[in-house]
Amino acid sequence: MGKVMVFDHPLIQHKVAMMRDKETTSKDFRVLAKEVALLMAFEVTRDLPTEEVEIETPMCKTKVKQLTGEDIAIVPILRAGLGFVEGMLELVPNAKVGHVGLYRDPDTHEPVEYYCKLPEDIDKRRIIVVDPMLATGGSAVAAIDFIKQRGGKDINFMCLIAAPEGIDALTEAHPDVHIYIAAKDEKLDENAYILPGLGDAGDRLFGTK
Ligand code: PRP
Ligand code: URA
Repeated sequence: MGKVMVFDHPLIQHKVAMMRDKETTSKDFRVLAKEVALLMAFEVTRDLPTEEVEIETPMCKTKVKQLTGEDIAIVPILRAGLGFVEGMLELVPNAKVGHVGLYRDPDTHEPVEYYCKLPEDIDKRRIIVVDPMLATGGSAVAAIDFIKQRGGKDINFMCLIAAPEGIDALTEAHPDVHIYIAAKDEKLDENAYILPGLGDAGDRLFGTK
């Protein structure tokens, strides 16, 4: 059974608060997204396997723990998920990056796929799907469906803001997926936008509105 973890770290809460503010510019929004992604990635990678190896410090021989080299794939859901990639790559620079392109139909709110390109060995990687918003959950569920169809198994989902409806939909459709959330909000409005939320994450990142 996957876990659902809501971050309560003050640095993350502070940065998310700044991202919510409608006066925050796209330039600052992008910087904050990168910083939050880095902080969250720290926790999401907490249980990566390590092994003991012997090295020599300038003083003596000693045993230290090193990552065993489990390979990671970061998979942003286009387009807003792109805002998380740079921050995560700073922490795990050898990760491969796949992309899933989805947009929500403005009338039905159902996800529409337009792109999917994943690392060839996706079945062997620890996968971290990233998207700032988990609203109805339709996009996350569909993205993880595609990843599973292509062999993905060890899947984690990381988002900035989640509505209860989205968490329920994702845990029901993919109970094996671990979900990491910076802030859990109250509800969706009649257009399936998160309240209080931060508005349209893609538009805020890329300044398209
Ligand atoms: C946003 C967001 C998620 C999706 C969440 O993307 O980045 O992918 O909505 O909503 P859901 O949980 O109800 O599916 P959007 O469809 O606006 O596309 P964009 O990133 O291209 O702007
Ligand atoms: N997508 C967004 O970008 N924001 C929301 O609040 C809901 C879906």
